[in-house]
Amino acid sequence: MKILFVCLGNICRSPTAEGVLRTIAARDYPQLGVEVDSAGTADYHVGEPPDRRTVSAARRRGYDLAGLRARQVVAADFSRFDHMFAMDRANLDELERRRGGADAHKANLGLFLEFAAVSGAAEVPDPYHGGVEDFEHVLDLCEAGAHGLLRRLGK
Ligand code: 4NP
Repeated sequence: MKILFVCLGNICRSPTAEGVLRTIAARDYPQLGVEVDSAGTADYHVGEPPDRRTVSAARRRGYDLAGLRARQVVAADFSRFDHMFAMDRANLDELERRRGGADAHKANLGLFLEFAAVSGAAEVPDPYHGGVEDFEHVLDLCEAGAHGLLRRLGK
């Protein structure tokens, strides 16, 4: 089961979702054989590690994101991954636009929190221009989302 998380810059939300899901899947759902990666629709930060506010917030909860490096979504992602989960509708729209109509593209596209059935939130809000509490909120949503996603995939 190959999962790609997608946000805009691939330095805040999607690396958080990647690290959180990888940790929880390995610990609680090893039988699912989950492989997880993340990417951005934009190329602003390609090659960079996650934002230091993202790395610190994750480290406080025991997730190590420091080794990740940002990359942009590429055409091959649509056939390599089973699921591509966007953090918000703007990025989902962008994925749908780029996928086009080709049948060779196997990936299911969706909103992370909607697929995970997280109550009260459909999008993970962009924390880039926010404060510490916004980065904490991203982690809260990614933890809830990872549990929901794994429950659904595990059934
Ligand atoms: P992300 O956050 O999409 O969660 O990685 C952002 C990172 C960078 C920018 C915007 C959002 N930016 O405009 O550079």
